[in-house]
Amino acid sequence: MKYKFIDLFAGIGGFRKGFEDAGFECVFTSEINEKCQEVYSTNFGEKPYGDITQINPKEIPDFDILLAGFPCQPFSISGKKKGFEDTRGTLFFDICQIIDEKQPSVVVLENVKHLIHHDKKRTFTTILKALNNLGYNVTHKILNAKDFGLPQNRERIFIIATKNHYFNFSKLKTKKKVILKDFLDTEGEFEFLEKSEYTLINTPRKQASGLLFVGYRNKNIWKKGVRENTEHLSRVHRQPNRIYSIDGTHPTIPSQETAGRFFIYIPELGAVRKLTINECYRIMGFDSNFIKHPNTGERYKQIGNSVAIPVIRAIAESIKEQNLLINESQRQIEGDLHSLFFSS
Ligand SMILES: C[S@@+](CC[C@H](N)C(=O)[O-])C[C@H]1O[C@@H](n2cnc3c(N)ncnc32)[C@H](O)[C@@H]1O
Repeated sequence: MKYKFIDLFAGIGGFRKGFEDAGFECVFTSEINEKCQEVYSTNFGEKPYGDITQINPKEIPDFDILLAGFPCQPFSISGKKKGFEDTRGTLFFDICQIIDEKQPSVVVLENVKHLIHHDKKRTFTTILKALNNLGYNVTHKILNAKDFGLPQNRERIFIIATKNHYFNFSKLKTKKKVILKDFLDTEGEFEFLEKSEYTLINTPRKQASGLLFVGYRNKNIWKKGVRENTEHLSRVHRQPNRIYSIDGTHPTIPSQETAGRFFIYIPELGAVRKLTINECYRIMGFDSNFIKHPNTGERYKQIGNSVAIPVIRAIAESIKEQNLLINESQRQIEGDLHSLFFSS
């Protein structure tokens, strides 16, 4: 028997791929964006249900694990401390309603790491409290894609709520560090920059994050508000202008970037070129069979919004190894006890 999961705020299915790879079965999906739905159904053969706020939790099939990389919204806390009622009007409230109705063994939530500090930490505290009040043991950790075999410095917060004992993040199987060089195409059509289009710095140094900053593009600079003789700093500090060496990791692929302005330095060639779209998907853990959206801007947006698949796969495998799933016989016993005590 395969354990079952539901894939909420599914995007292009990064969570689904990780859990399917680990042997779980998807029984329900929701994603409101039509362009994501198109890509999802092309790759997984199922069109996701739309707006989660319109879905009746009672109509969702039974499942063991709820997965959601949900958008972060502030809560207008009434101060009445009613648990998940305090989250009413947000998408997290819809997640809570499904948890309340379906009582899964495990809930895995993912978000940007800023969620912890959002709205003076009130958002995060409310989320943890709501899950506690629903009867779950809750634990969380910031995980970085570079610790799971990808050459990308991508930090995300993972919140894992369990009915059974706590999920133990220290049992996650990490992988040894890799560099961007090992993930690049050696043949194909590449977009190189002219030497006049960039400046390399004299003393590149690897940062703790694994990034190896080597230079910046000579783009138009922000003159407004910039002190005289410091114009070059403006170029250096604008993230889309920075150039990193392939002997290090790549910075986070963001969702706001729709033109794919990620430029990499190849020491062997003494040249700078654009990271291709296929390479972008590869450093998120998507394999070459994955069919992307036909529109370039959408492709970049969708991958920037997605999850690093090896991180998800490691979580899925660890959930199994840590025995966090209530099996059929336990469910049966729980059901019998329930009817013994509550039937008249
Ligand atoms: C951060 S992305 C998650 C991406 C996903 N984890 C992946 O691997 O591609 C959040 C997603 O929530 C979707 N979303 C936002 N509001 C929604 C709603 N009311 N119902 C269903 N999906 C929604 C967005 O369209 C977006 O794709």
